[in-house]
Amino acid sequence: MSEGTNIKEILDGLIEEYQKERGTIIGLLQDINNKFRYLPKDALIYVSKKVGVPLAKLYTLATFYKSFRLDPVGKHLISVCMGTACHVNGSPRLLDTLERDLEIKAGSTTNDNRFTLETVNCLGACALGPLIVIDGEYFGKMTQNKLKKVIKKFSKD
Ligand code: FES
Repeated sequence: MSEGTNIKEILDGLIEEYQKERGTIIGLLQDINNKFRYLPKDALIYVSKKVGVPLAKLYTLATFYKSFRLDPVGKHLISVCMGTACHVNGSPRLLDTLERDLEIKAGSTTNDNRFTLETVNCLGACALGPLIVIDGEYFGKMTQNKLKKVIKKFSKD
């Protein structure tokens, strides 16, 4: 593994739990995704060998379920809701602003690894639309002004 034995130890711990609990392979992938915030390629190769599940099957699962990521995430994850209610209330304009100010497209990460920008479907809080979520924190009724302030705040920490 590229980042040394530490990752191996973490994976061994998760695999051991998975085997002890007779968990599902999806549960194991979720644990790995939670731990690293994405599924590192090396981790999938390691798990495939250790657990005896073909790598192709792990990739199929990893790409099928939206909650899994195959690319590393920046320090802050910005999710812009593009569900209908948020859309009609202006989320496309907010997304445009974010893409312009961060100089990235949705689905990518800034060069300094500070922000990852993504779009998501309805988060079930339509009354708060347009809604943006940063690192799990909900920012509802978002406006261009509020957005600038929020991004400024996250640019500093
Ligand atoms: S459409 Fe955005 S929370 Fe429902």
